[in-house]
Amino acid sequence: MARKTVLVTGGAGYIGSHTCVELLNAGFPVVVLDNFRNSHPEAIERVRKLAAGSLKLVTGDVCDSACLERLFAEESIAAVIHFAGLKAVGESVAKPELYYRVNVGGTLTLIEAMLKAQCSRFVFSSSATVYGDPQEVPVPENARFAPESPYGASKAMVERVLTDVAKANPSWRVALLRYFNPVGAHVSGEIGEDPLGPPDNLFPYVAQVAVGKREYLTIHGNDYPTRDGTGERDYIHVVDLARGHVAALDHLDELHAATAINLGRGIGGTVMEVLRAFEKACGHPIKHVVGPRRPGDVARYFADPAQAEKLLGWRAEFDIERACADTWRWQSRYPDGFRTR
Ligand code: NAD
Ligand code: UFG
Repeated sequence: MARKTVLVTGGAGYIGSHTCVELLNAGFPVVVLDNFRNSHPEAIERVRKLAAGSLKLVTGDVCDSACLERLFAEESIAAVIHFAGLKAVGESVAKPELYYRVNVGGTLTLIEAMLKAQCSRFVFSSSATVYGDPQEVPVPENARFAPESPYGASKAMVERVLTDVAKANPSWRVALLRYFNPVGAHVSGEIGEDPLGPPDNLFPYVAQVAVGKREYLTIHGNDYPTRDGTGERDYIHVVDLARGHVAALDHLDELHAATAINLGRGIGGTVMEVLRAFEKACGHPIKHVVGPRRPGDVARYFADPAQAEKLLGWRAEFDIERACADTWRWQSRYPDGFRTR
């Protein structure tokens, strides 16, 4: 059966670009909406080289209702995957109004345009950050909501809005995908994570030390109650995550109203384990020092991914070693990301 067109907001970004590749490979025509606030148009060109099929780019802002209305009038959109938004936890503490404007306001604008166009299929990029400091690991979807930053709160609010919209409009089907720690890059080394400025997250930081852009990694604490004392997270390969979105689209009709689904491996890796795996991938030692704990960090955090397997028939395939090998291929080939000359 012919696949119907999917609108991917934020499709030029890290997770969005990998998802576009998987959507095109699965036969979905794709329309990307992105304002390139945190990405580069070259990412779209690379996606076009990696996957055949129809990929249209609209440069615009998800907060711009006229732009969205035009887009829905011109394209026949069957479903939306909504990645566009801001994601820096620290920045969200300094500029909460900006985060609520873009993440909550942008989603409301999108929902209104969808209601007008009678488009009722929505896949939302939520985050495991909605759980805050979890009371138990692995974390199930019915765990307590306790976001600790305006970023996390904006994701929780959007989940609530979408849940109410799905309740009010029985034809709507919404997947609230709660990602754990997305890492890795496409196996080609042609697309990957391309942070502007110093990375906050472990993988891009380690990668920049490995390639010589930064001097050393600071391990934020080695006195946690974990197997080697360093923090433990559920690192999920971005291609697995991208395929989770294709699975969500394929099973959306079977879901009940708005359904929250964890996307993680269900296996934790520690900072030391990531460091060792990356050293193996790049073939040389990575300089590091141990610093104090980072405020707000938790010791152990990983998903209960059973619901994703049950509802979407999806489970993650790739391990940390594979994520390090793919990240290194991208980072060593393009040390300055999409701006590499
Ligand atoms: P990213 O910054 O690489 O991608 C977001 C994309 O949205 C970028 O291309 C950016 O230019 C675009 N964008 C931002 N504001 C926009 C606007 N107003 N209008 C149109 N486009 C806009 O981030 P990512 O890592 O790919 O994350 C994608 C989504 O997944 C985000 O919603 C993020 O909160 C969520 N998420 C990410 C992680 C993670 O660790 N990367 C974890 C959990 C959830
Ligand atoms: N870490 C270091 N050194 C670094 C960076 C990170 O030791 O330079 C450690 C952290 O302390 C943590 C682990 O590596 O133990 C992972 O840290 P990340 O910053 O990569 O990931 P987090 O789990 O802290 O962040 C994730 C998501 C955010 C989300 C946040 C909420 O990336 O989007 O969880 O807790 F908001």
